[in-house]
Amino acid sequence: MKIRPTKGLTFDDVLLIPQKSAITSRQQVDTSSRLTDSIRINIPILSANMDTVTEAGMAIAMANAGGIGIIHRFMSVENHIRQVRSVKRAQAVMVEHPYVINPEDSISKAVGEMRKNKVGGLVVVDSSDKVQGILTTRDVNLAPETDLLVRDVMTPFERMVFLTPGFGIDQARNLLFQHRIEKLPVINPDGTLHGLITAQDVLKPIKNPNAALDEKGRLRVGAAIGVSHGEVERAAALIEVGVDVLVLDIAHGHADHCVEMVKRLRKQYPTAQIIAGNVASRQGARDLALAGANAIKVGIGPGSICTTRMVTGFGVPQLTAIMDSADGIRESGRDIPLIADGGIQKAGDLVKALAGGAETVMIGSMFAGTEEAPGSPVFRDGQKVKVVRGMASLGATMGRKQVENSVSDESAEDSEDWMKVVPEGVEAVVPYRGNVGEVLHQLVGGLRSGLSYGGANNIRQLQENAEFIEISPAGIRESGSHDVRRI
Ligand code: XMP
Repeated sequence: MKIRPTKGLTFDDVLLIPQKSAITSRQQVDTSSRLTDSIRINIPILSANMDTVTEAGMAIAMANAGGIGIIHRFMSVENHIRQVRSVKRAQAVMVEHPYVINPEDSISKAVGEMRKNKVGGLVVVDSSDKVQGILTTRDVNLAPETDLLVRDVMTPFERMVFLTPGFGIDQARNLLFQHRIEKLPVINPDGTLHGLITAQDVLKPIKNPNAALDEKGRLRVGAAIGVSHGEVERAAALIEVGVDVLVLDIAHGHADHCVEMVKRLRKQYPTAQIIAGNVASRQGARDLALAGANAIKVGIGPGSICTTRMVTGFGVPQLTAIMDSADGIRESGRDIPLIADGGIQKAGDLVKALAGGAETVMIGSMFAGTEEAPGSPVFRDGQKVKVVRGMASLGATMGRKQVENSVSDESAEDSEDWMKVVPEGVEAVVPYRGNVGEVLHQLVGGLRSGLSYGGANNIRQLQENAEFIEISPAGIRESGSHDVRRI
């Protein structure tokens, strides 16, 4: 048994001492950061892989703002793939596999397909894969009879406006504008379909100049996986559909089976980007780095909905966990970034986490109240709220068991055995907060100011210049608004 002589610190225990600054405008600073050793994002923020925080809608909003969303794993592999695909389709310069329909199909089938896939048009392709035309909602809405076939109402190939591969974005924009059309198929010289450009896709890069994009111009997205045997198949399927990062989602990441899983994935997918965690110690971070992870996620129990520290007695106050883990990564000799996961309640916490050695932060409950988080808002005591739940809470654990049992056909008795669950998280409500973009605006605004106070043009300089001071309870009281009645 040993006891560490120094206290473990978290965000509220410290402040950063202001540094001499040459920054004259908050707009001058660079908020970009490394997500992994080979992926940079424009704002250093990830939305957490929790079922009340990140599915496709949140991931799209996060990537549009310059961060990234990590889609949780408590769904079937098919659904996981669908979610990743819908992020990848949300802003590609060109949709690679557009939805298609056969010319001999009925227009009611076409309407059904458009509704199901939430698209306003289908490319018409015959059974030998040759493009025959294009069909849009306008064509079907204006059709005089409903029992017509697709070929009767489509715009046929001879009248179609299209591009061939190798086009320029300006060329696409000009054609869409000249012909006042919404969709522009890209057709290979042999007449088969190459892709589809939509007017929205051409305009989105102008609307979201900070967006986190992959090399094909699509929004970036991450997905969580577990460490059990079958999860390698989930990883393979996610890589296949173009996921940018895999996040190994395990509460105690400094465990042999997690280290083994990192090694296995590294070997099987040498270029895959793997985020491993969670750890809260120097040794934990070092071992995952040595196993081949591309970034290390840090945080045992700091999260707003976590009770791990209460239930198990284990954890490290988050700022100390970040600093120790950063030392562990350095010790491994690998130059990979650290992600601070959990406990961010205000912009100042984000700045302190970065100054302490993190390159990005992961946020859960602050985003759970936003429009883009899964689930609808409800009214509780006259206030509009949304639900957030720890992934190890009773509700989340039982929900998962029921899904697993329905898939594996286990006995109903097992699925109802609530007494066996030892929760390490809680279920709660958080105020409804509007669009996540507004919350991100506040966080990034705080970061920009923080960089200026730190005399730093970027996050790396913030870390180099950082000087923390431990504060007393009186110092903490002084740090918030005080001695006034808030209105
Ligand atoms: P915040 O504070 O941003 O934290 O809401 C989000 C992070 O909390 C972790 N998490 C849990 N930790 N029990 C835990 O001990 C849980 O049930 C639980 N659910 C989520 C997770 O790391 C997340 O990113």
